[in-house]
Amino acid sequence: MSIRPLVIIPDSRLRLVSEPIARVNAKTRALVEDMFETMYDAPGIGLAAIQIGVPERVVTIDVGSRTEGDEEGEKRPIALINPEIVAASEELSVYQEGCLSIPEYYEDVERPARVKVRYMDIDGEIREIDADGLLATCVQHEIDHLNGVLFIDHISKLKRDRVVKKFTKLAKEKARDGA
Ligand code: NI
Repeated sequence: MSIRPLVIIPDSRLRLVSEPIARVNAKTRALVEDMFETMYDAPGIGLAAIQIGVPERVVTIDVGSRTEGDEEGEKRPIALINPEIVAASEELSVYQEGCLSIPEYYEDVERPARVKVRYMDIDGEIREIDADGLLATCVQHEIDHLNGVLFIDHISKLKRDRVVKKFTKLAKEKARDGA
């Protein structure tokens, strides 16, 4: 297991549409382990494989420590392979979202309050989850990543342009400093 470097905007890899996993194998399991390790280290509650530069449809999520009734630090890891939303509620909810690829930037985003997600688990079994609350938001945010979509695509163009500009400037400064 290893912690992998995170891909940060405006890196164009974040705009790739990730490829489905045909069959879960040792490589997939190693990827999932690295994703969990990278996610917990960040720390974050969700990660898509492309955020560590792997364009495959794999997502890790753990909203455990932020779920009501759970102990602080309790782990509820979920790995979703080829996840897809098969149903979404008409009711919407708003959460303040952030993203490990857009460090220290947070904005309110409105999404369906509940979704049904079909995915393959780490044993290659097809499963479904009914997600609500923070998990519903998180799973939609991560599935967006698999399609090259970022949460800032759901906010106003003005705000989006401002944050992209800021991170583009930071990336240029970093490149110039040889960091
Ligand atoms: Ni994200």
